[in-house]
Amino acid sequence: MIIFGIETSCDETAAAVVESGTREICSVVASSKEFHEKTGGIVPEVAARKQVEFITPVISECFEKYRKEKEFDTLEDCYRSVDAVAVTVGPGLIGSLVVGVEAAKALSLFLNKPLIPVNHLVGHIYGNFVNNTQELLLPAVVLLVSGGHTDLVLMKDHGNFEYLGGTLDDAVGEAYDKVARLLGLSKYLGGALLSKKALECDENTIKGLLPRPMVDQDNFDFSFSGLKTASKRIIELNQYPREVIAREFEEAAVEVLVKKTIRAARKFNVKTIMLGGGVSANIHLREEMKKEADKLGISTQVPPIRLCTDNAVYIASAAYFNNKSVGYENVEVNPSLGIMDKL
Ligand code: KG4
Ligand code: ZN
Repeated sequence: MIIFGIETSCDETAAAVVESGTREICSVVASSKEFHEKTGGIVPEVAARKQVEFITPVISECFEKYRKEKEFDTLEDCYRSVDAVAVTVGPGLIGSLVVGVEAAKALSLFLNKPLIPVNHLVGHIYGNFVNNTQELLLPAVVLLVSGGHTDLVLMKDHGNFEYLGGTLDDAVGEAYDKVARLLGLSKYLGGALLSKKALECDENTIKGLLPRPMVDQDNFDFSFSGLKTASKRIIELNQYPREVIAREFEEAAVEVLVKKTIRAARKFNVKTIMLGGGVSANIHLREEMKKEADKLGISTQVPPIRLCTDNAVYIASAAYFNNKSVGYENVEVNPSLGIMDKL
């Protein structure tokens, strides 16, 4: 089954073709990130306008890549081979989401193929299923860490999730971004840069100075706003080098994420721990999770770095495994969709 996926939930405009939910054929991602860097944060109106500008060229380029990859003679042959269109309907910025959803509706009408709505958060999980030669054993505990979400869920099967816990305030990605900004590393989405800075620190001489919020609480919830505020105070003291603070922040955040995920994995006796979302690109998080999971004989699955941040490959894959195709007139955007919300 060939699925053409579209993703426009925030500042990336993406299209991809995926075969049988697991084989990426081609992918195109355009981003308006550079414009938001200038303003020091995302302006939803600007993001939406860029989505409008990028969506048609991105879809067109994706079909062209698909044609080359599969050596079709004509684009018409390409169109005919697509079995369904998939699109992110939420969560995200409403102005960005509607661009992708309306384009997907038009494409599904044009191709005369079903449209499959996809929850972006569930989509992130499927970065683990694409191009993966290893067998992925379920049930799994999934840690979903992005700029807007921090959720821990038990994945019993495709489309069968149990919510275990999540952040009570800020998402971990948001805390990364805020601290990166306070450290003067980036005005917008500085998670990866903060992590790079932390690597410059040979020894964490302030270990324990920052809190590890809720780490010992017997639940699966998180809180990152206190860690963010404590980091701000330490940065304002002007007493410690930036790389040391970056390292202590990263150690604090990762310690909480790993300990809670491992606790959930033990409690539910799972075979696999899966990561997903932009923050799952974090090397320290990936390494620490694997180290702790290995001790328990649990396998750790992480998406390739390229599939951690927003793209349409995992949207097409999620659509394959959770196929609920509907008439285009029944597909609506939902900016505040949660990971457990049914479509
Ligand atoms: O999933 P994503 O691309 O967008 C949302 O759906 O939110 O996640 C973006 C988030 C941002 O907060 C970004 O700073 C963070 O992921 N991020 C990282 C890393 N790469 C991206 N955080 C920590 N370390 C990284 N290497
Ligand atoms: Zn995302």
